[in-house]
Amino acid sequence: MKKLVAIVMFVLMTTFVFATTATEEQQYQERMKRTGGYMRMLRENFKSNNREKVISAAKELESIFKQEGKFWTKRGTSDAAKLSKEAQDAARAIVTASKKSEDDQAAVALKNLTNSCTACHAAHRELTSGCSGRIK
Ligand code: HEC
Repeated sequence: MKKLVAIVMFVLMTTFVFATTATEEQQYQERMKRTGGYMRMLRENFKSNNREKVISAAKELESIFKQEGKFWTKRGTSDAAKLSKEAQDAARAIVTASKKSEDDQAAVALKNLTNSCTACHAAHRELTSGCSGRIK
């Protein structure tokens, strides 16, 4: 019985360690899923002219891309780090412009942000099947 408990404990612990160290790749994908969500929120609210929500979505994106920058810098992938920085700057520009109700400027920044998504996906996202992919 003791042995069984020990085994169960061992299994639980290894699963726990494994789960909490959720590979950086898994965390990355999680972050990108959130990115997709905030981007949708940003676009919809931009269309409907809800600046408050545009600002909050853009702020979230700014902070996500800051983490992105760290991730890629640590990996030594300089072009992706640069694209993360550009995305971060574009998100911040959306916040700044929206606060001043400069929607044209915000639209330009939104376009820049979208370009960063596309550029990085082209270079560093490998589609495995359908819409799921991994880091390239
Ligand atoms: C610096 C690089 C980089 C930038 C910038 C970037 N992405 Fe990604 N993105 C990736 C990589 C790499 C993957 C593949 C990772 C994976 O699926 O595990 C990915 C995957 C995704 C996914 C799929 C996640 C899933 O469910 O598998 C979505 C959605 C996404 N990105 C949205 C965006 C949006 C929207 C932007 C711009 C606002 C953006 N990304 C900008 C690198 C980037």
